[in-house]
Formats: sequence, C-alpha cells, structure tokens
Amino acid sequence: MLYTDIDFNNKNILITGGAGFIGSNLAFYFQKNYPNSRIYIFDCFRSEETFSNGNLKSFGHYSNILGFKGDVIAGNINYQEDLKLLDNYSFDFIFHQAAISDTRVYDQEVVMKTNVNSFFWFLNKARKDNSTLVYASSAATYGSLPSPQTIGHELPENPYGFSKYAMDCMASNFLKDNPGLRVVGLKFFNVYGPGEYFKNKTSSMVIQLAHQILNDNSPRLFEGSEKILRDFIFIDDVIQANIKACDSRKNGVFNVGTGIPRSFQEIVDILQNELGTNLPVEYFPNPYTGYQMHTQADISLTRKYLDFEPKYSLEDGIKAYIVNIKKMLNVPIS
Ligand SMILES: NC(=O)c1ccc[n+]([C@@H]2O[C@H](COP(=O)([O-])OP(=O)(O)OC[C@H]3O[C@@H](n4cnc5c(N)ncnc54)[C@H](O)[C@@H]3O)[C@@H](O)[C@H]2O)c1
Repeated sequence: MLYTDIDFNNKNILITGGAGFIGSNLAFYFQKNYPNSRIYIFDCFRSEETFSNGNLKSFGHYSNILGFKGDVIAGNINYQEDLKLLDNYSFDFIFHQAAISDTRVYDQEVVMKTNVNSFFWFLNKARKDNSTLVYASSAATYGSLPSPQTIGHELPENPYGFSKYAMDCMASNFLKDNPGLRVVGLKFFNVYGPGEYFKNKTSSMVIQLAHQILNDNSPRLFEGSEKILRDFIFIDDVIQANIKACDSRKNGVFNVGTGIPRSFQEIVDILQNELGTNLPVEYFPNPYTGYQMHTQADISLTRKYLDFEPKYSLEDGIKAYIVNIKKMLNVPIS
C-alpha cells in the first residue's frame, strides 16, 4: 500500500536499526513497494553482551532481514569510525530507529550516550546530504502523565524516556538553525506485529501472551490488568506514519498510536478468541514501580499534519498477526 505521492525509487534510503523490529519492516516496505529504491541498513546486530537487567544490549537479528536485497552495513552508532562508513553515501531519506529500545535499562550514561549523542551525528548528516530525517521518539517521554498524552506535555520517568525527550529537544533546536530541513520525530506508543520476536522479553505483550497460550500455559497478567490500559498500535500503521512523515506539512514530533486505549485483559480475550482456547488467567502482583497505567495518544496533530489514520483496531491487528505468531512459536532465539 502506498501512503504518499513521493516516489522513493532511485532514492538512497538509510535505515538505522534496520535489523530490528520497526526498521526491518520499513526496509521490506521499501523493497516491496519501491523496487528501484536503494536501501541501506545500518545496525550493530546482537552480540552476547547483556545489560545488568539481563537483557541483550541490542536486539538486531539477521533473521529479521532474510530476503532483504539491499546493502547491510554492520556498525555501532556509538563509534565514530563506524558512522564514518556512512560518509561514503549521500542519503535522500534517513529513518533513524537504532537505539537502546529497552525501557528498563537504568544505566543513564550508556542510554544517553547511545540514544542522544549519535542523534546529533545523524542531524548533521541530514544537513550535509539535505536528507529528510525521520526518527523514533517514544511514548515513554510522557512518563505517567494522565491521558491523553499530548505533544508538548512530557515528563519522562526513566533514562530511556528522557533520552528520547532529549532527542526531541535537540531536533527542535537544530531546526531553529536549519529551518529548511525536514526533521520529523515519531512518538510510537506500544507497537506489536511481525518482526518483534527477537526482542525477547522486551517484545509486546501480544506475542508473549499468545505464546503462553499456544504452549498451553495459562496467560499471566498483572493483578488488575483490566484497569491497565495502553494504546497498542499495529506495525503496519507505524510504517504508514514513517512514510507519511516524509511528506509532513510541518516539522516537529507527532504521536503514533490509535488514540484508543485497550487493556491487557482485552489482549488475552482477543487472543483466546482467535486461538479457540479458554485457558484460565493466572494473575500476579505487578512488581514494577513507575509503570504506565493508562496511555492514549492524542493523534490530532498527526492526523492534521501527516494525514495519518490508523487502520488497525487491536482485533484487526491481532488477526493479521496470528499466522506469524504461530510461525514464531519456539523458534530458537540465537
Ligand atoms: N517497539 C515499540 O513499541 C517502540 C515504542 C516506542 C519507541 N520505539 C523506538 O523505535 C525504535 C525501533 O524500535 P524497535 O521496537 O524496532 O526496537 P529493536 O530493538 O527491535 O530495534 C532497534 C535496533 O537498533 C539496533 N541498535 C541498538 N543499539 C545500536 C547501536 N549502538 N548501534 C547500531 N544499532 C543499534 C538494534 O540491533 C536493533 O536492530 C527504537 O528507537 C525504539 O526506542 C519503539
């Protein structure tokens, strides 16, 4: 499906984090719809290194990009010598997805250096190449502010959220000096869909709960899950937002959600309906403090300036996802 009149054929497109969930979906979107586009993935891929929370330092996985025909550049956004590899190219479009995407990494130094410092490099690269730059911000910038979450009212509550907030400020300041550039940030809410499996424990609750059910285990939910509501958005709608951001009528940061909050309990109910099961739910206490209890994206500006219109309800997204969810059951992670 084409979302804009822009012809990406014969354009140089850089996707950082292209071996990850959202980045790989973007790469395949361009490959399918603009076969003559030149697509470059820049990603450090996964190593065996972990953070103190036990999660991998990066989740990029070659399996996410099996079938991708463009160029893959293995590099780390923290290393100048790796970034310099990109100086061999001039990009028309940069989609900057690479980041520590794990919201529960609390090492402030490493989160800030990885997510923020590198962003300055990509802003300058966009200026040099006169590229359109679309980057991933996050709903985590809102912390636990009440719904609906609205652009301009942010209060991050963890290093990850703060790093994305700092990127938004940096982009805004950079644009004051470079008003002719097109730089658009997208605050993704809770994204789910094919390509997230290799995010391991940081993948969405949709796939985690589905795999519990498919393994014939009781789906596990926090106590009071019917009252924990989030704005879950299907990957195809996130791709739509990224593409439409290239045509945005205004620079700035925009929310990417459905605008409709749904509960974790509803995810289980929809999954059980789709999978034809009726397993009892096992409830357990929520161990987290600073947990977002209610998110609902205010997408009025996204509608107005990007013509963004989410197409998938939670029911539609899960239905579209279920074949992939089954396919990924018990796939070895390594
Ligand atoms: N998925 C969501 O629900 C969600 C929500 C809000 C924001 N985001 C943001 O969207 C972007 C993409 O998220 P995702 O869900 O695809 O996560 P992901 O972890 O699957 O993708 C991130 C990619 O970046 C790569 N990467 C990490 N550190 C790197 C480094 N130092 N150098 C080079 N590459 C590096 C990883 O290998 C991975 O392939 C991230 O910036 C994330 O913070 C995602």
